[in-house]
Amino acid sequence: MKDLTRAINAHLELEFQASYSYLSMSIWLREMDLAGFSHYMLSKSDEERGHAARMIAYLVDCDEQVLLPMIQSPPRQWQSVQQLFDQVFEQEKAVTASINRLYALADSDGERSAAAMLDWFVTEQIQEEAEARFVLKRLRLAGDNSAALLLLDQQFLEGTAMASVKLATGYGAAAGA
Ligand SMILES: [Fe+2]
Ligand SMILES: [Fe+2]
Repeated sequence: MKDLTRAINAHLELEFQASYSYLSMSIWLREMDLAGFSHYMLSKSDEERGHAARMIAYLVDCDEQVLLPMIQSPPRQWQSVQQLFDQVFEQEKAVTASINRLYALADSDGERSAAAMLDWFVTEQIQEEAEARFVLKRLRLAGDNSAALLLLDQQFLEGTAMASVKLATGYGAAAGA
């Protein structure tokens, strides 16, 4: 197996692990009656599975082997919504770092098709980190004010919470699924 194929397969674990932990977060947020936050994390969980599917399709199309990873059971509860989003942000930064390493490997191997596939992920990670950073900043502003937390939850329900992030970065159209 090529080093790059092995590395892409190893990266799949990060995407599936993110999907699984975002699902767990969505459950906890639902238990806290934060339906907007919960819905948002459920859609992030689906997105992560989509990311894994994108890389799997690439491997199959290039006649490379896919080895599905073992996924650990994620944490089940958090001390606060802010602590939860701290974890989201850390997890996204780890994914970005892994994508960058894959890119460097594709470059050094002269694998132009892998670089083209990874371009989409580079853009997607800008959006993902921007979203996590935005939510964290809002939560810090909200502090202990539950009315502010509930307002943000309502904006997630209405689908308007991320409007300014997508407009500001202009990556909304390129990213997505
Ligand atoms: Fe992802
Ligand atoms: Fe992500």
